[in-house]
Amino acid sequence: MIPTTTAHGGLTLPVLGFGTYKLKGHAGTAAIERAIASGYTLLDSAFNYENEGSVGAAVRASAHHHAARDELIVTSKLPGRHQQHAAAIATIEESAARMGLASLDLYLIHWPNPGQGTYVEAWRALIEAKERGLVGAIGVCNFLPEHLERLHADTGVLPEVNQIELHPYFPQEEQLVYDREHGIITQAWSPLGRGGEVLEEPTIVGIAEAHGATPGQVILAWGIARGVVPIPKAASEERQRENLGALELRLTGDEVAAITALGRADGRLKGQDPAVYEEF
Ligand SMILES: NC(=O)c1ccc[n+]([C@@H]2O[C@H](COP(=O)([O-])OP(=O)(O)OC[C@H]3O[C@@H](n4cnc5c(N)ncnc54)[C@H](OP(=O)(O)O)[C@@H]3O)[C@@H](O)[C@H]2O)c1
Repeated sequence: MIPTTTAHGGLTLPVLGFGTYKLKGHAGTAAIERAIASGYTLLDSAFNYENEGSVGAAVRASAHHHAARDELIVTSKLPGRHQQHAAAIATIEESAARMGLASLDLYLIHWPNPGQGTYVEAWRALIEAKERGLVGAIGVCNFLPEHLERLHADTGVLPEVNQIELHPYFPQEEQLVYDREHGIITQAWSPLGRGGEVLEEPTIVGIAEAHGATPGQVILAWGIARGVVPIPKAASEERQRENLGALELRLTGDEVAAITALGRADGRLKGQDPAVYEEF
């Protein structure tokens, strides 16, 4: 059992989840089934990943032997092009249909797209979807404090999850404080920097050697120690289990601080600043 964390509205999530971007088709379903068999219960997907079918197939297949449906938290996300109210409701219904599931456990707005100017309308649709039982809980991705303030001011409802880019090169100290103070769970996307150079960062490799752990485990343990829910993606059972091993690793306060100090203002992987970046 993975330890859990709880948001302001009672949503309880494991402190480590599983990303599925790029896992699709039969190979994707098999990889997601392996992840569920290994012990992951929080599955992240999105309408735009074009893999809701594969995720749903893995969830349905696992129900017979690995994990009952109610042990899993199945997530999807609303794309920018469907933020208008009626389109948003239809998209949420379509996500569940593609998954082959009666309802989803968590639904997120994928990007605020402030220039488009419809994220409050999308949020009202998510509130309605939750009230109608189409989804169990609702949240957002890539929201800055100003976007969250706007949701609260206009609807009185704050998201329970904010899923943001977060890794050692972009530790998101201010957003983390904001989310924590408002009872919002911060999930980390690309927590391993997409498997790139951060895994060879000398500070991280040194800490890994000191603990007899791997760099990936150190990075995920750093996130968990800061109260973040990382959602690493890994295709192989070996790496899926390696990443779960982060739960056994306890970093010192100095080690956590040394990794956070690797952060830099331009540390986003692809410069996707939600204040200006829009995705449809
Ligand atoms: N909300 C958003 O806007 C947003 C944006 C991006 C991503 N996401 C979500 O966040 C999830 C995770 O982010 P991500 O997929 O971009 O990147 P990530 O999880 O940081 O990295 C995944 C990459 O790292 C490799 N990897 C996994 N475990 C490893 C380990 N222990 N050691 C070395 N390499 C390892 C994987 O390779 P293999 O698979 O070959 O093992 C894959 O290439 C996504 O899958 C998606 O669900 C959300």
